[in-house]
Amino acid sequence: MQTVEKKTWWKEAVIYQIYPRSFADSNGDGIGDLPGITQHLPYLHELGIDVIWLSPVYRSPNDDNGYDISDYRDIMTDFGTMADFDEMLSTAHSLGIKIVMDLVVNHTSDEHAWFIESRKSKDNPFHDYYIWKEPRDGKEPNNWESCFSGSAWELDDATGMYYLHCFSKKQPDLNWENPKVRDEVFDMMTWWCEKGIDGFRMDVISMISKDQRFPDGPDKDGIYGDLNPYVCNGPRVHEYLQEMNRRVLSHYDLLTVGEAAGVTIEEARKYANNEGTELGMVFQFEHMDTLQGEGSVIGKWTTKKPSMSKVRAILNKWQVQLEGKAWNSLYWDNHDQPRVVSRFGDDSEKWRVLSAKMLATCLHMMKGTPYIYQGEELGMTNTVFEGIDQCRDIEELNAYRQYVEEHHLVSGDVMMACINTVGRDNARTPMQWDASANAGFTTGTPWIKVNPNYTTINAEAAMADPDSVFYYYQKLIRLRHAHPVIVYGVFEPLLEENEAVYAYRRVLDGCVLTVACNWTDQPQECTLFDGLSGTELISNYKEHQAGVLAPYEARVLLQEQE
Ligand code: GLC
Ligand code: CA
Repeated sequence: MQTVEKKTWWKEAVIYQIYPRSFADSNGDGIGDLPGITQHLPYLHELGIDVIWLSPVYRSPNDDNGYDISDYRDIMTDFGTMADFDEMLSTAHSLGIKIVMDLVVNHTSDEHAWFIESRKSKDNPFHDYYIWKEPRDGKEPNNWESCFSGSAWELDDATGMYYLHCFSKKQPDLNWENPKVRDEVFDMMTWWCEKGIDGFRMDVISMISKDQRFPDGPDKDGIYGDLNPYVCNGPRVHEYLQEMNRRVLSHYDLLTVGEAAGVTIEEARKYANNEGTELGMVFQFEHMDTLQGEGSVIGKWTTKKPSMSKVRAILNKWQVQLEGKAWNSLYWDNHDQPRVVSRFGDDSEKWRVLSAKMLATCLHMMKGTPYIYQGEELGMTNTVFEGIDQCRDIEELNAYRQYVEEHHLVSGDVMMACINTVGRDNARTPMQWDASANAGFTTGTPWIKVNPNYTTINAEAAMADPDSVFYYYQKLIRLRHAHPVIVYGVFEPLLEENEAVYAYRRVLDGCVLTVACNWTDQPQECTLFDGLSGTELISNYKEHQAGVLAPYEARVLLQEQE
């Protein structure tokens, strides 16, 4: 099978995500900032990435670390000024690195001027910018649970009405049904495009259109109902994105990726359709969520390790079923996920480096645009938070309060074990630059504790070691830039019954790439390479044994027809 794929720069690019708060602090206040990013651009240039996705840097009271925006056209005080932003943008561009902004427009902060007006009275011109409902029998309009625990509705005294917040109560949802809201959002996006940014990662964009009946959701945890069926992929979401595309996106050459909670293959084929009428690609979550529900303690909270074959079945499905129809994004890590080497690999001293490289190979040889989350290129690991007082993430803090303190559904110890396994703060510990105090992240007191393993796992040590995870990622990026089969080749699954080895082929114009990854700490039989001649593009082992993959071994072989 051969697909003629339309070539675009963002299909050929490798993206690096920066979570600014945790990346690099330039002024000793313990908080990462824009000048800190600018200072470290040469490091990213050395890694070889093409694009930075910047988690939100807009003005924000920081209830959810910038995902609660109070002014879309200004910079968060903690992070610097608009001049610092412009400096970062032009320095990045001079190094050939593009900047993709996080667009958070499902909701604003409750401190945004629109919301301050909106809540004043029912006839305020901004009232209808948000989703207000009258009480039902003196209580919440329905049983929906917010994604950050508690009811998704908050009563407001001035009007006696409830407003909807799918996330924290400081993140009221915008009412996209109101054309004025869409005008405002599209104007703001155009303003950033005119500034010269290169794209948008769109926060929970699959949630902008709500089922206007606002019905009760199915029971979630015995306390509240699930809002997802009525807010994800809602009735008008494609209409809104097509309007956004017509009015803004189509006027620029942008990378666009929608964070699409609850997305199915069928929906993704619309969001990321090859005709380009909506977005370039979406982030799907199925491979991150294999333990939700039955296998978990409660909701997303678990201490278990996901099975490779489940993860593989999902990723293979996405590879095969988007072929020729829509473009995939590829990721293991982001600021909402635990560290991949701890989650899917083995972060022990013995296997950390090998398993981090194996996982990187497994993902980066697939079809789609790969995303690397800060520190992933160092093989950074989960950390251990000893108590909830060390945690900072509002999702963790609220879940702990609801499940442990208020409803006694889970013990504190079990909840901490879950947080240490899947909590978002694992990704948010400071970037480990060197072995000096606080990992070289700050000269002050970091806003969240540093992972104590920074003395051995850090960028300086990695750059001094030719066998480091860093140089392995560098090589994966270079390979993608050099070989069109890695970008455009058709994906063909192999060994789908094998419980230990994840293998596949990529095929393009007479080039065949064979990829095999051992996801275990035991040698595994694998005869895929026996009798094949070709060029080895990359492997985390220098020597191979015929018919066997060593523990966590990854191998990539290219055969080219004359
Ligand atoms: C997205 C972000 C997450 C944030 C949430 C609400 O899922 O990635 O960090 O908390 O949206 O904006
Ligand atoms: Ca700072």
